[in-house]
Amino acid sequence: MGITLQGFGFYVPPDVLSNFDLEKMVDTSDEWITSRTGIKERRIAKNETLLDMAEKASRMALEDAKVEPEDVDAIVFATITPHFTFPASACLLQNRLGCKNSFAFDISAACSGFLYGLEVAKGLIMGGSAKKVLLVGAEKLSEIINWQDRSTCVLFGDGAGAVLISSEGEGEILASLMRSDGEVWDILYAEKCGYISMKGRELFKLAVRSMEEVCRQVVSMAGLRVEEVDLVIPHQANIRIMEALAEKLGIPMQKVYSNIHKYGNTSAASIPIAMAEAYREGKLKRGDKVLMTAMGGGLTWGATLIKF
Ligand code: UT7
Repeated sequence: MGITLQGFGFYVPPDVLSNFDLEKMVDTSDEWITSRTGIKERRIAKNETLLDMAEKASRMALEDAKVEPEDVDAIVFATITPHFTFPASACLLQNRLGCKNSFAFDISAACSGFLYGLEVAKGLIMGGSAKKVLLVGAEKLSEIINWQDRSTCVLFGDGAGAVLISSEGEGEILASLMRSDGEVWDILYAEKCGYISMKGRELFKLAVRSMEEVCRQVVSMAGLRVEEVDLVIPHQANIRIMEALAEKLGIPMQKVYSNIHKYGNTSAASIPIAMAEAYREGKLKRGDKVLMTAMGGGLTWGATLIKF
């Protein structure tokens, strides 16, 4: 059965927080942030709520897919910064969009949220529960950042990405593999109403190792060779993680899409924003084999290989 990523949308707030701005807030430097992470600036939602961002990204995705809100069967919303405790941000978004015929729910898988959501969307479509799924990854991470903690505040940003996934079209999910390990939950977490806490160095090593493993597995599950992958869209956590992963997989960096310099790490929003931008820039073409991979709090990680 075909599963096509049919329409794309994203939204990032207009307010830019540069590394130079951060130099005035904590003991850091543009040189440190750029060389250790690849990030130059990030967007901060000063005047937007999570739902404002998600709505804008979703409307763009629906328009791009030429799908009316009433024709959406399900809304899957990946976020770790929900608008309310309940109802789900997905239900609040459903109301704003007028997706009257859909069911809607949130998933919490941190930076792997978009890939977990894609796995759920695949299941809904293959199981016959939905033909059109709106998958949203959106975060207002600025709300859960301790702006006095230089080890985390330089890394994250706000934004939203959305994809309309359809049972019609030529696209396919060639292979996917999702993993989690709750034993190491304390490497990256935020307590209820608390701030993000992270053991960066440990996570760095685990991220490279785990993503390499699942990437190799999905490529082999699809019966392909790594060289046959046209584009890699990794979670945007750190350019050095992306470079190390590419090197280990033997994939040139020209095939790895990155926009981390502009937005930092936007958790569940990072892959759909990158995807929407790559599509806009003509770097994603129908028929391409696209490998996506992520790792985040949980720990959660995964890889999905699609025929675009
Ligand atoms: O989205 C989920 C996935 N997230 C990740 O995968 C993130 C993984 N981790 C990382 O990306 C990196 O570990 C970081 C970017 C978080 C940190 O880079 P690092 O090269 O691992 O640095 P470090 O934590 O080993 O710290 C090196 C030094 C320390 O000083 P000492 O102990 O060597 O004197 C830190 O205190 O850099 C210091 N440091 C900073 N200095 C200036 C930490 N943060 C900063 C900062 N500015 N913002």
